[in-house]
Amino acid sequence: MTSLDTGIATLRSAAGRISYGWDRLARWINVVMPKGLYARALLIIIAPMVILQSVVAFVFMERHWNLVTQRLSAGVVQDIAALIDVYRVYPQEADQTQLRRIARERLGLEVDFLPATEMPPPGPKPFFSLLDQTLSEELRKQIRRPFWIDTVGKSALVEIRIQLDNNVMRVFAPRNAAYASNSEIFLFWMVGTSLVLLTVAILFLRNQIRPILRLADAAEAFGKGREAPANFRPRGAREVRRAALAFLEMKGRVERTMEQRTAMLAGVSHDLRTVLTRFKLELALLEDSPEVEALKKDVDEMGRMLEAYLAFARGDSGEQSAPTDMAAFLEELKGDAERNGHKASVVFHGIPVVTVRSAAFKRCIGNLVSNAARHADAIAITGHRDHRWLTVTVDDDGPGIAPDMREEVFKPFLRLDDARNQDEGGTGLGLAIARDIARSHGGDIVLGDSPMGGLRATVRVPV
Ligand SMILES: Nc1ncnc2c1ncn2[C@@H]1O[C@H](COP(=O)(O)OP(=O)(O)OP(=O)(O)O)[C@@H](O)[C@H]1O
Ligand SMILES: [Mg+2]
Repeated sequence: MTSLDTGIATLRSAAGRISYGWDRLARWINVVMPKGLYARALLIIIAPMVILQSVVAFVFMERHWNLVTQRLSAGVVQDIAALIDVYRVYPQEADQTQLRRIARERLGLEVDFLPATEMPPPGPKPFFSLLDQTLSEELRKQIRRPFWIDTVGKSALVEIRIQLDNNVMRVFAPRNAAYASNSEIFLFWMVGTSLVLLTVAILFLRNQIRPILRLADAAEAFGKGREAPANFRPRGAREVRRAALAFLEMKGRVERTMEQRTAMLAGVSHDLRTVLTRFKLELALLEDSPEVEALKKDVDEMGRMLEAYLAFARGDSGEQSAPTDMAAFLEELKGDAERNGHKASVVFHGIPVVTVRSAAFKRCIGNLVSNAARHADAIAITGHRDHRWLTVTVDDDGPGIAPDMREEVFKPFLRLDDARNQDEGGTGLGLAIARDIARSHGGDIVLGDSPMGGLRATVRVPV
């Protein structure tokens, strides 16, 4: 292996590690990030604002506040230095009345002189006090004499004592003469205005997101075969309006296609029925013979098939979704099956009132139960409803359907039991219709093995 190979291998493994780390980071962000658009949009507004404000506040504290305090402290210390100079140059005045008057009236400082013993030892420094630090610094720089200061406490005055040649000068200076004390106002305004901004952003965002939620609701309702909310109209930002318009157009197209299909099937079946009726009339005019009997039977069967087909084509068109009591409806089916001499049982779990197109849905489950009744003795119907789905299973103890035929039997007119029991005339449309109805509710039907030994048909529709 050449050194080039080793190099490339190292690079590869490094790249692999980086991409792995990146993936993990991306996944973590995905987990941590709020899921809703509302929260995300708010985050997009809040995060820059907080960062910006922190930076501004930090810079302001660091620079401006320090600088102002330093300038103010320097000014106070300059005044004190001048007073000390005056005191030392003109010491003739006995109790320094003039000096103290000038200090009080012109400089705003309260000055008096104490015996040299009144100089306390330097106390502990407050840990984080800008004023203490700056003032000490300035005193050291400008006066170069031992001093003692007291800046702690809430008092509006700062006390400064300076060791002179044979006594101590005590000065009370107003705190805000030495200290940029109203900077908190700045922070207060900053936080206050950002709260106002945030409130405005929340109000605006809510209005922006509402049309998206409306569109989602409408699309969901359409998927479940329900009417879109009555007041649904494209609203909001241009992109959202565009999506809503596209949805409405798509909905219109789908509905037109369905209507067209239904109308065509109905038309064809109707025309055929007319011809069949003529057949029947003509057959009735013929003399009875075995051939004519057979023909009559065929025509009858064709008539039945056509009726079923017409029903299929009419489908559930035009019916509106309405809350329906599923438990009661399943009980009804059980009653029907028992009247026809079958053993039937019904269980329902969950809240039984479900919004469906009730006539169509009854037909759907009814077809499954009638299939079970045709092929088996015992029927078990189970309903289950949770927060998302309504699931109805129909079990029987009949012969069942071979796994490879379980999709086939949904094809219209396909019947497996032609050989099994020919005289029980079915048209082979029952399962096709049932699946059509389930799908138009946004759900589906699957066939499987029943624990009772026969077929299990499971209908699942979203609620
Ligand atoms: N529970 C069942 N057990 C066994 N076979 C079944 C069962 N249900 C349906 N099948 C088979 O599937 C075929 C298709 O059923 P489908 O309901 O579509 O038509 P059909 O029952 O024959 O006629 P129709 O329901 O229109 O009167 C049936 O012919 C039957 O062979
Ligand atoms: Mg059937």
